[in-house]
Amino acid sequence: MNHLIAPSVLAADFANLQRDIELINNSEADWFHVDIMDGVFVPNISFGFPVVESIARHATKPLDVHLMITDPDRYLETFKNAGATNITVHYEACTHLHRTIDAIKKMGCTAGVALNPHTPISLLEDIIEDVDLVLVMSVNPGFGGQKFIKHTYQKLHTLKALAAGRNDSLYIEVDGGVNLTNATSLVKAGANVLVAGNFVFSSDNPMKTINSLKELDPF
Ligand code: DX5
Ligand code: ZN
Repeated sequence: MNHLIAPSVLAADFANLQRDIELINNSEADWFHVDIMDGVFVPNISFGFPVVESIARHATKPLDVHLMITDPDRYLETFKNAGATNITVHYEACTHLHRTIDAIKKMGCTAGVALNPHTPISLLEDIIEDVDLVLVMSVNPGFGGQKFIKHTYQKLHTLKALAAGRNDSLYIEVDGGVNLTNATSLVKAGANVLVAGNFVFSSDNPMKTINSLKELDPF
């Protein structure tokens, strides 16, 4: 599969949200990456349901919702109703991950699991066939604009090997510190969805930056 680009709305200008949503609509981006932080699971608070609903109202592409919250089961349906296409929960936040993944899929969304940088891929051994997406955090979750953690490459290789033959349509998403310097290597290592926040929205021409991430040189 050709890799997908999911610009992170967290790095957009919230006072000009409609402008930035249109920019993503008109770019070669594939998904909107929507980061939800509760101030408990991560040391930061982002935004809640009214903002997700507003994004969904204007977005012409799927909403990839990344829940950095404790006990996400309480809010799955609300996020689905707010417009989520994919819902990703954190491995570290779910006591009954299989049940949570099942609940997401029963609602008609695709279901993802995210791993913090210290959480090994091997813990997915018994759930790999049940998820649509695995999000490999390449920074500690909570903030945009952090430095990429290089150990991520090794995790992507391990994940690709784990999924081979067991879940060949798996989305392998990498999130945190993605830029044009590491994008090609990340895709080579197995990523097929690249999230990018600050690298896109801090650039002079965000649309061009999205398109450059999409059109990586062939390798
Ligand atoms: C971090 C979030 C990321 C973040 C990425 O906790 O999950 O999605 O927005 O931002 P950059 O690309 O700036 O690291
Ligand atoms: Zn994210």
